[in-house]
Amino acid sequence: MADLLSLQQRAAQGEKLAILTGYDASFAAQLEAAGVDAILVGDSLGMVVQGQRSTLPVTLAEMAYHTAAVARGAANTLIIADLPFGSYQANPAQALQSASTLMAAGAHCVKLEGGAIMAETVAFLSARGIPVCGHLGLLPQSVNSLGGYKVQAKTDAAAQQLIADAHSLTHAGAAMIVLEAIPATLAKQVTDSIAIPTIGIGAGVDCNGQVLVLYDMLGINPGKPPRFAHNFMEGAGSVAAAITAYVTAVKKSTFPTEKHSFHSA
Ligand code: KIV
Repeated sequence: MADLLSLQQRAAQGEKLAILTGYDASFAAQLEAAGVDAILVGDSLGMVVQGQRSTLPVTLAEMAYHTAAVARGAANTLIIADLPFGSYQANPAQALQSASTLMAAGAHCVKLEGGAIMAETVAFLSARGIPVCGHLGLLPQSVNSLGGYKVQAKTDAAAQQLIADAHSLTHAGAAMIVLEAIPATLAKQVTDSIAIPTIGIGAGVDCNGQVLVLYDMLGINPGKPPRFAHNFMEGAGSVAAAITAYVTAVKKSTFPTEKHSFHSA
């Protein structure tokens, strides 16, 4: 199984990392067979599996349930699991307890949302053997503060803040950082200035890797798909072929294209 260190080394050598979300054993097995570099058990499951309006209602017990299912389906793939809303923000000790639940369920790394404010927690978990993936830009757990699912960091001040946040997370020991819905030029600037991989979703082609919500890239999300998503089922013929097409497109940098990317104000 590819571990986090080898993923970081491959990214440093210029290989693009192809990651998708997964929530159950059957899809996890398909993702593993197609050779994804990691499976993200995202709290997006609240929206695409449970039909919630946001990720906020997802509980730690539900995340552990889905993480265990994915771990059973893809025993040889790196698994990143989202810490859900309210399970880590209070203090590092709360985060350690929640992260331990997800690691015991089969995760190899946990993801949390937020910049400098989460640095102490990232350092606390990393020092205790729990790899942490950061998440900057559009933070779905903060949708009520952001006023909707909008492109972030479009002004110069907001871009500078995001760069500072990326540096804080890196210095705190984060293993990688997801950059969601930010201008492509800013994502490149962040990627070029930190030593850990950036994983983009709506952040342009210059990130070290890409992630998409599985149901968006299979075209089975009943809502309006985000502009940065592409339906890989079109012309694929099977789920397995669609996932393989995604992995190939990310590795060759043919996805995302300009039409999936955003620009500054
Ligand atoms: O929950 C999720 O699926 C995510 C991705 C959108 C990156 O965090």
